[in-house]
Amino acid sequence: MTTESIISIKDVTKRFPVGGGEFTALHKINLEFETGEFSGLIGPSGSGKTTLLNIMGSLDTPTEGQAIVMGKDISKLTHKQSALLRNMHLGFVFQVYNLLPVYTVFENVEFSLLLQNWSAAERKKMVMESLEWVGLQDIADKKPAKLSGGEGQRVAIARAMVKRPEIVLADEPTANLDAANAHTIIQTMKRLSHELKTTFIFSTHDEKVMGYLDRIISLEDGKVKKEQQVEAKFSLS
Ligand SMILES: Nc1ncnc2c1ncn2[C@@H]1O[C@H](COP(=O)(O)OP(=O)(O)O)[C@@H](O)[C@H]1O
Ligand SMILES: [Mg+2]
Repeated sequence: MTTESIISIKDVTKRFPVGGGEFTALHKINLEFETGEFSGLIGPSGSGKTTLLNIMGSLDTPTEGQAIVMGKDISKLTHKQSALLRNMHLGFVFQVYNLLPVYTVFENVEFSLLLQNWSAAERKKMVMESLEWVGLQDIADKKPAKLSGGEGQRVAIARAMVKRPEIVLADEPTANLDAANAHTIIQTMKRLSHELKTTFIFSTHDEKVMGYLDRIISLEDGKVKKEQQVEAKFSLS
């Protein structure tokens, strides 16, 4: 069991209905992801990155083929089981971080814990630890409008990490950030991946992000064009 991939994508094809016909967004994709891997999907806009991340995140299902996430074939899950998989094991970071404006940083990170039976004390411990991971423990009481873009995205990472998910899926997480903030964000995620053995899968156009990835998967027209293991250019020291 220990050698089993944490995510296994087998012959995955995704077709969307468009007009009277269909559009093939993913074409027979085969990929394996191992625990703790720090890897990314790259490719031009429209190449299928978001579609594939959505399937790996159990937000969508393949038309054909299988997506096995933490040992579960996501096509066979009920709505409730797929919500449970996302809730317990997956974290999401998007290009737009969508914090709830009327709540504080603390409350935004706490939000997903309210669905479960954590005590207030446990929630506080988990939220503050997560904010410490991203270096924002001192601004827990601020409202999102008072944050910089880089800080907002760090809150989004804390929110994704608060339940210590095994997998974090990050869809172009640095697309709206300047270079300095992009480096901080990606270094933060790389450190968390090392410390917590979290598997990170990105989609990105960003050269700065690519420099940190252990593996780059190039998509083009819904197909895997190339896969490379890379010697990460940036270390964490
Ligand atoms: N719900 C949908 N209905 C129809 N076409 C879609 C849908 N979602 C994505 N597509 C199409 O699938 C292709 C891949 O989209 P996407 O995965 O968003 O690419 P990327 O994230 O690489 O930019 C695009 O041509 C897009 O228009
Ligand atoms: Mg996309």
